[in-house]
Amino acid sequence: MVVEDESLIAAHIQRQLEACGYMVSALASSSEAALQRAAQIPLDLALMDVRLTGGLDGIETARVLREKFNLPVIYLTGNADDLTLERAKATEPLGFLLKPIEERRLYSTIEIALYKHRMETRLRSIERWFATTLKSIGDAVIVTDTKGVITFMNPIAERLTGWRLGEATGKTVGEVYRTVNAETRTPIPSRVNEALLEGVTVNPISRTLLLSRKGVEALIDAIAAPVRDRSGNITGVVLTFRDISERERVEHALQESEARFRLLVEGVHDYAIFMLDPDGGVTSWNAGAERLLGYRSEEIIGAHFSRFFTPQDVRRGQPARNLELAAAEGRIEDEGWRMRKDGSRFQANVIINTLRDESGGLLGFAYVTRDITRLKQAEKQLKDSREQLRALAAYLQSVREEERTRIAREVHDELGQALTGLKMDLAWLDKKFAEIRNLPVVRPLQQKTREMPEVVDGIISTVRKIATELRPGVLDDLGLEAAIEWQIQDFQKRTGIRCEFTSNLKDIRLCPDRATAVFRIFQETLTNIARHAGATRVNIKLEAGGGKLLLEVQDNGRGVTARDLSGSRSLGLLGMRERAVMLDGEVNIIGRRGKGTTVGLRIPLIRPGDVTSR
Ligand SMILES: Nc1ncnc2c1ncn2[C@@H]1O[C@H](COP(=O)(O)OP(=O)(O)OP(=O)(O)O)[C@@H](O)[C@H]1O
Ligand SMILES: [Mg+2]
Repeated sequence: MVVEDESLIAAHIQRQLEACGYMVSALASSSEAALQRAAQIPLDLALMDVRLTGGLDGIETARVLREKFNLPVIYLTGNADDLTLERAKATEPLGFLLKPIEERRLYSTIEIALYKHRMETRLRSIERWFATTLKSIGDAVIVTDTKGVITFMNPIAERLTGWRLGEATGKTVGEVYRTVNAETRTPIPSRVNEALLEGVTVNPISRTLLLSRKGVEALIDAIAAPVRDRSGNITGVVLTFRDISERERVEHALQESEARFRLLVEGVHDYAIFMLDPDGGVTSWNAGAERLLGYRSEEIIGAHFSRFFTPQDVRRGQPARNLELAAAEGRIEDEGWRMRKDGSRFQANVIINTLRDESGGLLGFAYVTRDITRLKQAEKQLKDSREQLRALAAYLQSVREEERTRIAREVHDELGQALTGLKMDLAWLDKKFAEIRNLPVVRPLQQKTREMPEVVDGIISTVRKIATELRPGVLDDLGLEAAIEWQIQDFQKRTGIRCEFTSNLKDIRLCPDRATAVFRIFQETLTNIARHAGATRVNIKLEAGGGKLLLEVQDNGRGVTARDLSGSRSLGLLGMRERAVMLDGEVNIIGRRGKGTTVGLRIPLIRPGDVTSR
């Protein structure tokens, strides 16, 4: 663009420019026109008359063009006075051309101006990039000149030193960057001078504390590096430093926690705790491991952990399988036989935890194991003794049941017969008395004899009752269903609680022992209802199907509580459960508060001795 208020000169310059191969996109005769054109079309350069008439003069216009449009300007001057020239220089023009313009000068001035402009633009963008970088990096940066005077400081350096860039600029580095030895607290020079004098990068030798303007202390890591120009001359120093207090604290805490953890693990005696590498090589060993497995740390580290397995397990590939499984699942628990150094075996409980790094790479395994041989023995003893107790209880039950049956029979038969005999004797006596009834002494005797059979009848019925209670004959004679029905009738009569009974048992009969056990469970259930439930109705269901027998007794009473069920004094319930176990079955008791209790007995039906049809 050519900005010239004299149109003849403007046209002349345009011709000259075009002759040199340039394109003139715009001619402007005033400042406003120039600014308007610059806003409308992209331009590379403006040739500007220093003395524009009207509006802004050439110098002012050039300043606006430069600031607003980054457009470089070459001034065209006639014989300018010194003052105007000074003002023009201050706007940093890229060149001057004296009117009238020589064509050769025109070309070289324009080319130099364009080149300078390109360079300046690049430099500015590099400077901006550099400043932004320095602002955003995590390290503190202070830049000095060759005398150690501060010329730049980034925000982190401002924060750590407590000085603002504006305040620090012009001060020597020693005033702003004050450091002491962290241990002795003697001042440490910044070493900027060393960098300046010796031209080498210097690190502080000791642990350095930076003291901020307000006295805040920070442990730092610092480097001073000289800056050189192209020909190798030192032009200043860059001092870079960072706050390492937090890093030191974390490192220290980590070390301490590691040490504590190691002490803890090493001190454990009852558990073998050790680490394996990903292939199963032992990498650490604690006191418990030495005690349990018999190897000292120095003999076992580096060895493969498969030596703790029995030869059979090793042949079966157990060690490798354990690690594969642990790697896949993260954690596994295993129980089995393991071997000590001396070849003796023990039963072990083993927990393997897989260790992985942050990106999931396998680091190894943490292995925790303990000897459970005695535990296993105790478990077996407990199981055996429980089984023995059960057998004893079963035996006692059956003996008791036999005894009851025998006594019931004896009471019923012997006592019954004796009483019947007694009744017959009384009848005989009565007859004899009738023959001699005229004797006055006989009458009261006869009277007594006539009353006595009634008493004997009473005794007979009591004896029957006792016999039935000892062992209801109906159970032996007619089977479980009939016995239950009979028991229900008796229960209703005695308690007045309404009972409903459904059964599909029909022809199925259990062997006598099993029928007795079910019947006794049922009796205890009814006794409990009478004693504890406060019920008004009871539903009883006897069902056979799918190879199972189900007896369900449901009352509408207060409902048995969890505490009742777990109470150690609940011998009735315990007896029911034990009997069910002897039948290979189970009892389920469910209580719902205020709604009632349901007792369900389930036993398998097909047993040797169970008769499935009469
Ligand atoms: N049908 C029921 N309704 C409500 N509570 C019940 C019922 N059956 C049992 N319980 C509760 O469960 C407890 C335990 O019953 P369990 O038969 O074991 O003992 P018990 O009847 O008290 O004594 P026993 O040893 O003479 O049978 C009872 O004390 C009672 O509180
Ligand atoms: Mg009871």
